[in-house]
Amino acid sequence: HGTSQISEQGHLVIGGVNTVELAKQYGTPLFVYDVALIRERALQFQEAFKKENVPYQVAYASKAFSCMAMFQLADELGLSLDVVSGGELFTAIEAGFPMERVHFHGNNKSLEELEMAVEAQIGCVVVDNFYELAELSRISKEKNYKMNILLRITPGVEAHTHDYISTGQEDSKFGFDLVSGQVHEAVQTAFEDEWLNLLGVHSHIGSQIFETTGFVMAVEKMFELVVEWKERFGFIPTVLNLGGGFGIRYIEGDTPLPAGEYVTKMIEVVKQKATEADLTMPEIWIEPGRSLVGDAGTTLYSIGSKKHIPNVRDYLAVDGGMSDNLRPALYQAEYEGVLANRANEEATETFSIAGKCCESGDMLIWDLPLPKANHEDILAVFCTGAYGYAMANNYNRIPRPAVVFVEDGEAFEVIRRERYEDLIRLDLPLVKKVAK
Ligand code: LLP
Repeated sequence: HGTSQISEQGHLVIGGVNTVELAKQYGTPLFVYDVALIRERALQFQEAFKKENVPYQVAYASKAFSCMAMFQLADELGLSLDVVSGGELFTAIEAGFPMERVHFHGNNKSLEELEMAVEAQIGCVVVDNFYELAELSRISKEKNYKMNILLRITPGVEAHTHDYISTGQEDSKFGFDLVSGQVHEAVQTAFEDEWLNLLGVHSHIGSQIFETTGFVMAVEKMFELVVEWKERFGFIPTVLNLGGGFGIRYIEGDTPLPAGEYVTKMIEVVKQKATEADLTMPEIWIEPGRSLVGDAGTTLYSIGSKKHIPNVRDYLAVDGGMSDNLRPALYQAEYEGVLANRANEEATETFSIAGKCCESGDMLIWDLPLPKANHEDILAVFCTGAYGYAMANNYNRIPRPAVVFVEDGEAFEVIRRERYEDLIRLDLPLVKKVAK
């Protein structure tokens, strides 16, 4: 998939670069990002808006994969940036990302984070709750900077996805609740606040969504509200942010729509609703994370030990696991993979791919068809670009992998591999009690 090919020697090639060589040069586990595919995905979203001639922003939900080079690429692609913490904002500042295109999310932004956002004069804060509304107004006044905001509302739409990544349902920690009417109070308060500039509203219904139904329902809900606000206190939003959540294909059987189709459907419904309500067409913002970087990422692992249990199963263990990809353990997420050094050979066996963490749940793939694999073969696992490195951790004090970008036959390291010294960088030695 993507720009991947198989070379004459049977090696998996991504972005014109031989992955077996990459594994040799940078070691494993290694995240490899196909930059051309990220460009293509960004364009798919942007073209869909341009075609309909609708003002828009496509904000990269950077939680999916953040590092300075990724933020610089996002800037180059004309994307805005959705950050959810001081750490992501700091990375954006350091990467030189234009602050006017940064949107700040989160259900519990600290006062320090809000101050940082106001000082950096970012494009917009997506306000989640009453506490934040009051504090942001106070900080904006103190720093003499009128902050643009959106209000996050919980549209009460259930997305059909894993419970942990479903966010739009009524009983959620995110946003202003619609059913109890809190959202009206929030909108009126924000609208009347002289230190806040209320641009509009935001909703995000969940992640890894394959259909447009949920988005359509969210738009419909939002317009019911908009009409009410216009009548009650004259507020007309200029921005509708419909969040992210567009699904990607991890395994055969996953059936996402092409990226642009989600957008086209949203635009159609917003146009129709705006006309019905006699309102000018608002700007539409979206926040894709997974669908921009997910299928662009491939993880390369070296195969180590094997275990054969007669009549039961064959295990192949790799040099990473839940330390670089938590998704199978956390969400029972499924992946596909091939042997990168023998990509031309037919799959004649099935292996279950185990990680190296001391935990039975550390399994990456169950029953993966592969050629007869051996120690030192390279396993490539596809579609690890979103929430892979981003959720990587140092469980068992396993150093986090390196990350390279590949494009047009060239590779660029964008995150170096953690070394053992990095692991103890923050450790302080035990202080012995001084004998009196
Ligand atoms: N906007 C908001 C407000 C969000 O909460 C999220 C994701 C996104 C945008 C981007 O969603 P995406 O386009 O990437 O689906 N760790 C989980 C996914 C958590 C998503 C959290 N919020 C996973 O690995 O599946």
